[in-house]
Parts: sequence; structure tokens; C-alpha cells
Amino acid sequence: MDLISEITALRAQVACWRLNGKKIALVPTMGNLHDGHLKLVAEAQLRGDRCVVTIFVNPLQFGEGEDFDSYPRTLDEDAEKLSQAGVDLLFAPAVEMVYPAGQAGQSQIEVPLISDILCGASRPGHFVGVATVVAKLFNFVQPDIALFGEKDFQQLLVIRRMTRDLCFPIEIVGVATDRETDGLARSSRNGYLTEDERQLAPALYAVLNAVAEKLQAGEDDLADVESSAINTLKEIGFELDYFTIRRVADLELPQQDDVELVILAAAYLGRARLIDNLTFTL
Ligand code: PAF
Repeated sequence: MDLISEITALRAQVACWRLNGKKIALVPTMGNLHDGHLKLVAEAQLRGDRCVVTIFVNPLQFGEGEDFDSYPRTLDEDAEKLSQAGVDLLFAPAVEMVYPAGQAGQSQIEVPLISDILCGASRPGHFVGVATVVAKLFNFVQPDIALFGEKDFQQLLVIRRMTRDLCFPIEIVGVATDRETDGLARSSRNGYLTEDERQLAPALYAVLNAVAEKLQAGEDDLADVESSAINTLKEIGFELDYFTIRRVADLELPQQDDVELVILAAAYLGRARLIDNLTFTL
């Protein structure tokens, strides 16, 4: 596996593959890789001829007081895992390579409306940071397809829209959330959980499932279902950011005849902000 940190070297390698007719699959990450990332890699390898992974902890998507400084940076271990997994190229640029003129004057990409709700409301500017860096990574790598985890459901929709609106000729593939055996969605931030919190954490996914079952059984008072789920989670020890039932297409509130729904939750357990979701059909 090539480990590259310069854009020109990255482009030269990708151009060479492209000349040889290879299909390039990109998996953007912030590193501290777990099995969920490796699942994205495996899917990328199935769908493409060459797999490029990027590791970049993007300062632009972290707000003030968030965990940018303490976000785990484990490049050596990550590179080893990716090399074992048969990844062709790891691109791990420095902040100055991605933002050569600094972050303050950086042109930014805003995907309106969908970026302002849910995680975007709690983390103002977060999705501008995500859309901007993903557009840059798309531009650096120029892949044919790019893969993202469905755990970050809102992020996936933001990236799909950005790709459509800016006419990137890239297929966006969402990959099902990878879970621990007890249901907890794998996340780099699970490492922030204490042992006790780790025991409680799977309750989030259990409550998502319970809510989906209620709705599929015919319960139609969404506000009531949401508020009883919120109470259950609070009693367990979660500090709720949001817990909401939305429609899949645009994350707006469901209308009477909407049948493709998603339950989205974000909640703190101690220092860890956990997010999860469950899509279902009524
Ligand atoms: O999901 C992530 O790891 C990040 O938000 C991403 C897509 C790599 C952009 O920095």
C-alpha cells in the first residue's frame, strides 16, 4: 500500500490507474479505524478496481469546545490495518496541504436546509465543514465512487445533495451501520465511553428498534412515541440531544402518506456523543 501525503503524488498515481481503465473507489475517514471502516473498505474493493482511503481529521467540521484536539490520531495502526486489508493507497495529508491559505479564508460549501437541522442545529457549521472537505477530497482523488457509513445518516444525505448539486460524476454509496454484537453502532467516539457507560450504550439502538416496532404495529401518535422513548433513555442515563422520527428522503417531519421513515437519535453518555438511526417502512 502506498502512503501518500502530497496531492500531486496522489493525483499522479490515480491518473496512472485511470489511464489503465481502473475504477477508483474512495473511502474518506478521519482515522482511528474500526471494523466499520474496514467494512466500507471491503465494499469499496467489491465495487472498484482500486481502493483509496483518506485519513484527515478535518478541523473545519469541529466546533469550538468540541474534540478536535483530543480526537484520536492513530496513523501507524490505521495504516497497518489498511495495508492488511489490501487497500491500494492511503492519502493522509497535513492540515496545511488541505487548507493552504488557512481555514478562515477557505471557500466553503453550504448544502442548505438539510445542514441546519438535527446534528446541524446542535453543531452549527459542522456540515459546512464536512461538505467542504469532502468536495476537496473528491477533487483531489476524482474517484468513480465514494462510500460512507449510514450511521451518519444526515451526513450521507448532505454529501449526496452536494454531489448532485455540484455535478460531481461520482456515485455515492451508503453502507449499512456496522454494530457490536450487543447492537451498539461502531464509532471512533465509542472509545470515550467508560466501562459502565459502555454497558448502557446499546440501549440507544434497542429503543430505536422498540419505536420502529410500535409504529409498524399501528401506533400513530409520533409525538407521544418520541417523548416516551426520550423518557426511557433519560432514565437509563442518556442526555438527549435529539430523538426524532423523520422521513428518509429529506429528514423533514413525516406527512400522512409518508411510509419510508427514519428514527434518528443523538445523545450523550458522559463525554461520548453517540448518534444512531434506524430506517423502516410503515
Ligand atoms: O464521517 C467522517 O469520518 C467524516 O465526517 C468525513 C466524511 C471523513 C469528512 O471529514
